[in-house]
Amino acid sequence: MTSSYRLTKSLNEQIARVGQRDPQAEAKIRSAVAAVPDLVSHLGLDGFVGVLVKDDKPRLLLRFERCRVPGLDEVASDVVLKVYGDRPRGEGPLLKEWGRRGVSVPRLETGTTADCSWLLMEHLSHTPIDVTYQECLMATDVLAGWGAAMHEPVPHLADVLRPLGDTMLPRWEACASALRADGRSVPLAWHSAAGLHYGGGGLAPLHGDLTFGNIARRPDGTLVLFDASALLGPKMFDAARWSARLAVAAMPPQDVFTRWSNAETDGAPGAYELLGVECVLEAGSLVVMRSQRHPASPALWRTDPSGNIDAAIDNLLHTARSILG
Ligand SMILES: Nc1ncnc2c1ncn2[C@@H]1O[C@H](COP(=O)(O)OP(=O)(O)OP(=O)(O)O)[C@@H](O)[C@H]1O
Ligand SMILES: [Mg+2]
Repeated sequence: MTSSYRLTKSLNEQIARVGQRDPQAEAKIRSAVAAVPDLVSHLGLDGFVGVLVKDDKPRLLLRFERCRVPGLDEVASDVVLKVYGDRPRGEGPLLKEWGRRGVSVPRLETGTTADCSWLLMEHLSHTPIDVTYQECLMATDVLAGWGAAMHEPVPHLADVLRPLGDTMLPRWEACASALRADGRSVPLAWHSAAGLHYGGGGLAPLHGDLTFGNIARRPDGTLVLFDASALLGPKMFDAARWSARLAVAAMPPQDVFTRWSNAETDGAPGAYELLGVECVLEAGSLVVMRSQRHPASPALWRTDPSGNIDAAIDNLLHTARSILG
């Protein structure tokens, strides 16, 4: 089978997987797929290796042996092309900016074509991180050490960073509904806190999705950060989200948040309440994932071999109550 035949076959399979789950997302994956021939020619991509992840998300992750564009020295061999088919995304430009600021991210080039955003990255020969107590502390320290560089405003990217509230508030409300359906109490004051702290502005560029699935260890032992949601909001959001996410690894969210805050301090009021709001969101997400055992969350099942999810949900809600009342 030739490389271009396998590429076409893989692209069609991705369209079918996405369309099966969500007909509306099919238009997005079709537009990403339509952009591929031009990208392959423009970037001189050669030797299709395969898709990185076979799932039903409306984005492409394709691995090639080579990229032949002269001058594109950042990325030359063994590359990954990521394409989104919906709207301009800040992921590529923000990761590039963070790389310039000394944060460890993949070497990459990025751009847009016909409304599709693309990233061309080095293929990382990384290993996922084991979610042990020591690794959680180590990763927290590394991420918090990058915090100041990550969260320094980037005015020239304002157009492509999405406001935190636009993205998170609908998700938070859906999580609150899932918690209620699960018989948990979600006081009205928590809704106001979510509106206030997600929607209250803040000009820090945010990763927005800090979790073990989006960091990895390079062969030399250093960590590398990728898959930024590229949001704009209060700078301690990343710490809050990371801290809530570690609850499933039996890490107390307040302890993780305090540890991060020792490295990246924030004088702004409300940072701590943001942690409470995030704990509610994470508890609701776990309730949803528990009911679906969602295949898109293999990291969760890796981190929860012995079924700590119920304990994590209780801990998250307990933390939310102690912060938000
Ligand atoms: N440059 C890369 N090198 C090697 N593996 C990669 C690279 N980029 C992504 N991957 C692998 O693919 C997985 C999914 O990629 P990524 O986290 O970027 O997107 P996602 O979370 O699936 O999608 P979305 O962008 O919609 O959030 C990663 O967890 C990682 O295992
Ligand atoms: Mg990811």
